[in-house]
Amino acid sequence: MTSPPRRRPPLRTLLKWGALGAVVLLALAQLVPYGRSHTNPPVTQAAKFPSAAVAKVAADSCGDCHSNLTKWPWYTNVAPVSWLVQSDVDGGREHWNFSEWNKAQPSADAVVRQIQSGEMPPLKYTIMPNHASARLSSADKQLLIDGIRQMYAADPPAAIKQNGSKPYAMVGAGG
Ligand code: HEC
Repeated sequence: MTSPPRRRPPLRTLLKWGALGAVVLLALAQLVPYGRSHTNPPVTQAAKFPSAAVAKVAADSCGDCHSNLTKWPWYTNVAPVSWLVQSDVDGGREHWNFSEWNKAQPSADAVVRQIQSGEMPPLKYTIMPNHASARLSSADKQLLIDGIRQMYAADPPAAIKQNGSKPYAMVGAGG
């Protein structure tokens, strides 16, 4: 008597185990401490935007990553999204932080270049439906660029850093 051929597990069983595995991985990911603490650091010195309109565009388009007034929606608490958001906020604040105007910041030119080139705000951020207000129309862009130039002229940061890293002393007045 020959034994029946071994049957492979049906697709349904494979999918079930696959889904269970994914759920377990996602649950384990929540245990990683990185990206869980969302207490914003204090504002040490707020940059003085020249008008409420400019301040609003900057807050809406840049503020989540370049200020200490980050808004943290519920999904920023769920790994792995929380890891990506944390890295964006840490990187953004490190490069340009308009809540810490008492510290060295990139030059007005460097900031304007990011806006003009369309690199900032990042596409991965503006593409989210709840960030629609972060998208810059060409009028917003011009308002923000002019506003930033005015702000740097009237109220420059403590120092200007070169290449987003080492601060160097400002030469003469104005900067
Ligand atoms: C989703 C988060 C996010 C938003 C929103 C955002 N940025 Fe950034 N920005 C970053 C990160 C992260 C960096 C660090 C460099 C990099 O990874 O590209 C950065 C870098 C910069 C730099 C530094 C470049 C240099 O030369 O050091 C400037 C200036 C800048 N952003 C301006 C802006 C402006 C202006 C806005 C709003 C119009 C904006 N960013 C919106 C995340 C963001």
